Amino acid sequence: MGEKIPTRQEALELLHQYNESDSLRKHAYAVEGVMRFIGRKREQDEETWGIIGLIHDLDYEKFPDQHCQKTGEILREHGWPKEHIRAALSHGWGICSDVAPETELEKVLYAIDELTGLVATTALIRPSKSVMDVQVKSVKNKWKDKRFAAGVDRSIIEKGAQMLGVGLDELIDDTIKGMQEVAEAIGLKGNPS
Ligand SMILES: [Fe+2]
Ligand SMILES: [Fe+2]
Repeated sequence: MGEKIPTRQEALELLHQYNESDSLRKHAYAVEGVMRFIGRKREQDEETWGIIGLIHDLDYEKFPDQHCQKTGEILREHGWPKEHIRAALSHGWGICSDVAPETELEKVLYAIDELTGLVATTALIRPSKSVMDVQVKSVKNKWKDKRFAAGVDRSIIEKGAQMLGVGLDELIDDTIKGMQEVAEAIGLKGNPS
């Protein structure tokens, strides 16, 4: 099968086909939202950035022990372009893949993947349970609290920010804003007051 540029609809269908879990789907939408936001800000192709965000963890539900590898296989079977596959795999650099983030898109994905989890957990402890109320300083306050969102590896986020040459505050701010754009889809719009 030859390579063709996938549409968002195709990416979404693949995501749903391989991920039934609500939380994994929401994680995909959150990463998509942030990728779109930062891609737009950097005057890049927002659609591509969003699509990579959507499918970066494609295999995680069905093949947790072969995370990244299986995503590569599935996308190749579907004729996805090499650049897209490379980008998806690079988010797991040093963990489940040996593809180091090189492009701007890849570095951003690497930097914000875990950060979306920290922002989501910060939103959930607000009385409103809304990402609309999350501020950079509330996320930073929880940076050193290892028990808070314990699964989020802060050192990966820091390494990502360093690769990009952006400050942590800017990265957190962009991540919050990107997630705010998809607040409804990720279940963090908050309680109606
Ligand atoms: Fe992953
Ligand atoms: Fe992820």
